[in-house]
Amino acid sequence: ARITLRQLLDHAAEHDYGVPAFNINNMEQALAIAEAADKTDSPVIIQASRGARSYAHDVMLKRMMDAIIEIYPHIPVCIHLDHGNGPATCMTAIQAGFTSVMMDGSLMEDGKTPADWDYNVGVTKTVTDTAHLGGISVEGELGVLGSLETGMGDKEDGHGAEGKLSTEQLLTDPEEAVKFVQETKVDALAIAMGTSHGAYKFTRQPDGDILAMHVIEEIHRRLPDTHLVMHGSSSVPQDLQDIINQYGGEMPQTWGVPVEEIQRGIKNGVRKINIDTDNRMAMTGQIRRILSEHPGEFDPRKYLKPAREAMTKLCIERLEQFNTAGHA
Ligand code: G3H
Ligand code: 13P
Ligand code: ZN
Repeated sequence: ARITLRQLLDHAAEHDYGVPAFNINNMEQALAIAEAADKTDSPVIIQASRGARSYAHDVMLKRMMDAIIEIYPHIPVCIHLDHGNGPATCMTAIQAGFTSVMMDGSLMEDGKTPADWDYNVGVTKTVTDTAHLGGISVEGELGVLGSLETGMGDKEDGHGAEGKLSTEQLLTDPEEAVKFVQETKVDALAIAMGTSHGAYKFTRQPDGDILAMHVIEEIHRRLPDTHLVMHGSSSVPQDLQDIINQYGGEMPQTWGVPVEEIQRGIKNGVRKINIDTDNRMAMTGQIRRILSEHPGEFDPRKYLKPAREAMTKLCIERLEQFNTAGHA
């Protein structure tokens, strides 16, 4: 069944679990996520970015979501827009059947320039005012994602802040978070607390205190009814780096967010955990392996099936680790 983010995260808060939000761009990823949810009896958030919408087309995404709900009617699925960059993008997503949208007003519409307070509150409120009329949930973002290590904004895939950021920008201020939620009425709030998007989050093995847990805790204490969202939550597992590199890939050594840190976050009010990079790597590792082991192979199903299975496996792991399993 199709449900909203609000419905799902209210349930998660009541039962102390987190919900992974996995990105999709194609049928293989949609089926992989749904199969993982089915196997573990979990509700799930399937999210599509603006990039996914232009890659796959809204009509294709909509029909794919309809198909998932028809194939797995017993699985609660929230269909969420990831990183909407303006009210218009959010509205067209709602028209395309999304039950939840993210209005990311932490950056200007160009996706690169850190936004000021009035801009962020203004665009976010425009979206909540309208979306809530139709029962659609809204996620906002306060604070700019980037590396606390280097002070650099997300750089990898063409979106994310440009240039050097201050620690104040990289950590959401709890007092501002309260004001932001009061003014915008968002259902969920993405906060900056030490994660960044993409594969290259940390240059050395995290020692256990890499996330600003006190910031998460403090925001949760002041905003117990606002669901916190952790972007950039891929763990970038070593075995996935290894398989990619073993079969011709060239990914420099890197570290992601340890699952235990996310579990601590969940104890402190994090309810939605965004994961894309891990799934990209799981699929790519298998595609590289199959093509390298069977260079004569040219049937896409021969490499897409193992790719899909690797993604299902990763999704199952996260659904179990975040205690989503069993809550469908
Ligand atoms: O935060 C970004 C997600 O990983 C989606 O990435 O914009 O390349 O589709 P994308
Ligand atoms: P990762 O790049 O860590 O998977 O984060 C994805 C994300 O935050 C999507 O919004
Ligand atoms: Zn994100």
